[in-house]
Amino acid sequence: MLVSLRDICQIAEQKNMAVAAVNSASLEAIRAAIEVAEETRYPIIIQHAQGHESLVPLGCVGPIVTALAERSSAQICLNLDHCEDLSYARHALDLGFTGVMFDGSMLPYDRNVELSGYVAAMCSEYGAGLECELGSMGSREAGERDEGGTADEAGAIYTDPNQAQDFIERTALDILACSFGTVHGLYKGEAKLSYQVLTDIRDRVKVPLVMHGGSGLTDEQYRAAIDAGVRKINYYTYGVKFAGEAVRRMIDERVFADPSANVYWHDMTTTAHESLVKTFEHVVRVFSNGAEPFVI
Ligand code: 13P
Repeated sequence: MLVSLRDICQIAEQKNMAVAAVNSASLEAIRAAIEVAEETRYPIIIQHAQGHESLVPLGCVGPIVTALAERSSAQICLNLDHCEDLSYARHALDLGFTGVMFDGSMLPYDRNVELSGYVAAMCSEYGAGLECELGSMGSREAGERDEGGTADEAGAIYTDPNQAQDFIERTALDILACSFGTVHGLYKGEAKLSYQVLTDIRDRVKVPLVMHGGSGLTDEQYRAAIDAGVRKINYYTYGVKFAGEAVRRMIDERVFADPSANVYWHDMTTTAHESLVKTFEHVVRVFSNGAEPFVI
């Protein structure tokens, strides 16, 4: 069943846990996300990033993911990720998405406030939730996957807690994406997170916080971020990296055993799907932070 971004994050708030928000630019990933939510009985957020339009267009994947989510017994939120165009947001909402992340983080502050406010009004027409971003992670979600590095290398600007309070009060957003040391893409070396940024924001406003660049961290880092107020963790790069490695191992083993063996496309998608199920199940359980499965 479909649930809204606002409701799912409010329950996560009450339970001191985070909901996994997996970017799903393939049918294998969408199926894996739904199966894991059904199996674990934790909710899940399936995301389509505007920057993934070239991998799979919203007009193609939107009706499929909406139909699959509606008929599932699991609680699923469909969130548009890193949307920069109001018309693209409306397209997703018309298709049945229950959340939008409007990313005005690269805009001047006042313009970010203004456009985020427009999207807030649009989301409320549909009963959908709104996520906005303040601060900048430097690396972009749709960039090269190995461009992440460290937050400093990526040119990140950490979210300013005072500005966050003003932003939240002026935009009517439901959840806030913050920059506090994570990066999109691969980490080069250990990620250094500033949990203090999260605590300082939450001392001012009790809004659920969102971690972008969420794949590639340790379970301890996830738990510490959740205890500091993160309620949604965006997870993509390492999931597709592990799936790619699993496909490569499968091909290597098969060709080693018989150099003339065929490798069919469905062998690859099946292997990728199995890998994604394993990865998603692990993160969904870690992000639950010990909370029991629940129904909204
Ligand atoms: P990663 O690709 O670094 O896991 O980040 C995902 C994300 O933040 C999507 O918005």
